[in-house]
Amino acid sequence: MIDMYQEELLDHYKNPRNFGALSNPDIEFNDTNPLCGDEVKVTVRISSDKIQDIKFDSRGCAISVAAASKLSEVLKNKSLSEVKKMDNKEVLELLGVSISPIRLKCALLSLRALQKGIYKMNGKILEE
Ligand code: FES
Repeated sequence: MIDMYQEELLDHYKNPRNFGALSNPDIEFNDTNPLCGDEVKVTVRISSDKIQDIKFDSRGCAISVAAASKLSEVLKNKSLSEVKKMDNKEVLELLGVSISPIRLKCALLSLRALQKGIYKMNGKILEE
């Protein structure tokens, strides 16, 4: 039986919010899940050190697409320093379902891509 959270995630997978790419973004970062080769591209527009707009283009499993979609809804108006501090727990809470350790990379793919993009914009590299 599918519960409410699973149903909501399925909807985010089938109708991902903020899907696509921004033109002339301040941040653009492509990342891959090394375990499966699935990809995500994140584009972000920044204003006064906050996320003004964000889009993602994801070629991945249901969890990775749903996580990117849900994240894109809560990230607008967050400051870059807040986003850099976000961790696994926040993404898992947002998803609201239990994720097996092997699917953790799927759930975190879009957040990590965004965080790596922020670090890259500042001339730094975010280690895994
Ligand atoms: Fe590839 Fe989930 S199986 S991102």
